[in-house]
Amino acid sequence: MINGPRLSKKKLGRRDSDDTVRLDKSCQGAAMPRVSLWFFAVAPIYVLIGMGFGIFMGATENFALAPAHAHLNLIGWVTMALYGTFYALAREASNRLAWTVFWLNNAGAAMMFPSLAMVLSFGDSSPFLLPLIISEFLALGGMLCFAFSVWSVLMKSAAAPLGVAIRPTAAE
Ligand code: HEM
Repeated sequence: MINGPRLSKKKLGRRDSDDTVRLDKSCQGAAMPRVSLWFFAVAPIYVLIGMGFGIFMGATENFALAPAHAHLNLIGWVTMALYGTFYALAREASNRLAWTVFWLNNAGAAMMFPSLAMVLSFGDSSPFLLPLIISEFLALGGMLCFAFSVWSVLMKSAAAPLGVAIRPTAAE
């Protein structure tokens, strides 16, 4: 389970033993799971590369690799941010599963961009076809684990009359 906050005097940004990161004193201990912070830490790296590549495509007026650009942005930025948001909200989600999603999606995004660009450039006979296929299954595996995560939380909420706890407010 991704643990909730503890009210204690800790340094901002410090990693707590319950695997959360304290961000803001005014939140009275509201803490972001470390895994969520990591999703948001890596997502801008992918989108910065994707945007840079988009600018390069525009400048050179060569759009042949547009699908590689699109997948980098959508898997590395949009999907990553959605995962991070869910795990920041759903305290009941399994921490181990969240990290599995993190690593699978990262491996998928990092492998997919260069291999898709190579396959688009040199065709299906290129040696990058296998890494491309592997990257697709890594990203798919991440999404399957995520779906399992969400459904597990949903099942817990079905058992609880008022639903599952999301991140607590300052008042808590
Ligand atoms: C600085 C930011 C960006 C620039 C300069 C840029 C540039 C481009 C260019 C030049 C194309 C090709 C257009 C064409 O084929 O006529 C494209 C396609 C695309 N971009 Fe971006 N882009 C940027 C950010 C993003 C982001 C953040 C996303 C998604 C979150 C995104 C998703 C897409 C998609 C889905 C396509 C269509 C790909 C395809 O047709 O195969 N782009 N972009």
